[in-house]
Amino acid sequence: RDDLSDLIAAGIRDVPDFPKPGITFKDITPLLATPASLRAVVTAVADRYAGAGVDTVVGLEARGFILGAPVALELDAGFVPIRKAGKLPSRTLRESYDLEYGTATVEMHADAITPGSRVLIVDDVLATGGTSRAAVELVRKAGGTVVGLSVLMELASLQGRDQLSDVNVHALTVV
Ligand code: PRP
Ligand code: MG
Repeated sequence: RDDLSDLIAAGIRDVPDFPKPGITFKDITPLLATPASLRAVVTAVADRYAGAGVDTVVGLEARGFILGAPVALELDAGFVPIRKAGKLPSRTLRESYDLEYGTATVEMHADAITPGSRVLIVDDVLATGGTSRAAVELVRKAGGTVVGLSVLMELASLQGRDQLSDVNVHALTVV
């Protein structure tokens, strides 16, 4: 294990039975609260894409905002939010995806990405892949090129990668 893996492992707290019985929640707030691990994670993502000509970092509400904005600063890129439905004030593009029960909808401002832009999507966790897949679709609808999807943590058992086979997926840690 390298230093980064150790820092990430030390910063993720397993919370049993949250948000419901039988689910163990991977809580990243200790990692965020620790200066060394917060910096290490942001630097690792930025280093990975430093040569990729990223124009825009797209962060996914809410936890993707926390990592996405500092990564954008490191890459000298802009930051664009993808938000849950109903939060963005101007004209939006929308994308829905399936949840265990029902559907979720996310939105991005229609003019947020200049067509032809090179876009890095950042989120904290890749689980079933629904959220990330929707983000990829929104960026492409807007005319952006998805350079990669970077997550702090991939939950491999949920096979989110299976629906992202057309995307460069980078996970700092796989659990
Ligand atoms: C969580 C997590 C990812 C997403 C991953 O967000 O932060 O964004 O789920 O799940 P998926 O791969 O199965 O789509 P959540 O929707 O719980 O909201 P939050 O980030 O606002 O806490
Ligand atoms: Mg999220």
